[in-house]
Amino acid sequence: MTLPHLGCTKADLDTPSLCVDLDALEANIAAMSDACREHGIDWRPHSKCHKSPLLAKKLIAAGAIGVTCAKLGEAEVMAQGGVNDTLIANLIVGPKKVARLVDLRRIADPVVCVDHLDQALAFSTAMSAAGLSLRVIAEVDIGLGRVGVAAGGPAVELARQIHELPGLTLAGIMGYEGHLLTMEDGDEKAAAILAALKVLTDTADQIRQAGLPCGIVSCGGTGSFKYSVGAPGITEMQAGGGMFMDAFYRYGCNISDWKYALTVLTTIVSRPAPDRAIIDAGRKTMDGWVHKPLVCGRDDIHVKSLSAEHGTLTLDPSAQDLKIGDRLEIIPGYSDLTCVLHDNFLAFRGDKLEAIWPLEGRGRLQ
Ligand SMILES: Cc1ncc(COP(=O)(O)O)c(C=O)c1O
Repeated sequence: MTLPHLGCTKADLDTPSLCVDLDALEANIAAMSDACREHGIDWRPHSKCHKSPLLAKKLIAAGAIGVTCAKLGEAEVMAQGGVNDTLIANLIVGPKKVARLVDLRRIADPVVCVDHLDQALAFSTAMSAAGLSLRVIAEVDIGLGRVGVAAGGPAVELARQIHELPGLTLAGIMGYEGHLLTMEDGDEKAAAILAALKVLTDTADQIRQAGLPCGIVSCGGTGSFKYSVGAPGITEMQAGGGMFMDAFYRYGCNISDWKYALTVLTTIVSRPAPDRAIIDAGRKTMDGWVHKPLVCGRDDIHVKSLSAEHGTLTLDPSAQDLKIGDRLEIIPGYSDLTCVLHDNFLAFRGDKLEAIWPLEGRGRLQ
């Protein structure tokens, strides 16, 4: 695919194209960064939604201390792009990955998670053999029921084991309140999130009372950001996807704080019926599974369904003049699962292409 030239307009693009509105993105980034600063915590935004070292550097310039990554391969891409302070919020298992982690540690300073002594032992053996030291945090299950050591005593015991192992530095703990993101906004959601995070911060206190260090207490997602950011005892915030916003965050997680910054530019390729139009963007171009996409600026056009390469729109009477060749911008259902389908972000200032950010970590699933 030939890349469009900087300075071109959206009308010059072929479709489908993944577009970023820089003014909206920068406003969202500033809002998230400012909120973290106001609450005296560090922002380490999750980069799973963008996987781009160039965008990571923009986040760091706006106040982030580094980024969170979902995979070792993403952290490698970040390090190669000059972003060294990464938190790999996932469990790294197996000799091949541990060997790569040693190589990563030679050029960067990642923080990795464990929820069992076995993961920590493998890191310790490899790091001490290489004469290196690796920052490790214990992941605690605060109700999500995914990974994580149990809070309280078992987490303190794991922290002690990490602390005593050669080649490892106990850096703290993390938990993810991902089971609470989609609650109705309001007091109940606030109380549930604060209660889950209290489990994490109480565990941090117990670790410290045991005479162990616990500098990092990390949590947070876009769907819980506004409550988690002010939770007492939290030191780091992982929420990242809010920089793009999308239909899932808006209507699934009931977040109205940020602007839509990510769109897919599409073309109407067929008008088979007065109330139906087909766009050239289906499931291989954008997510419609986590949440239905929205049509930008048109509440009279609705995404009915997505098949692999077609998107089916339902048109209200006021939209039935739409014709083949017309273009629409679509707000993805879920930005995270949309971005990974594309090679590049095309970043626009108004209608002018200002930057192209390759998704260099795309496909780095190992
Ligand atoms: C460990 C972890 N932290 C944070 C997040 C939140 O990410 P975001 O703010 O991009 O939705 C997720 C989302 O899946 C996650 O798995």
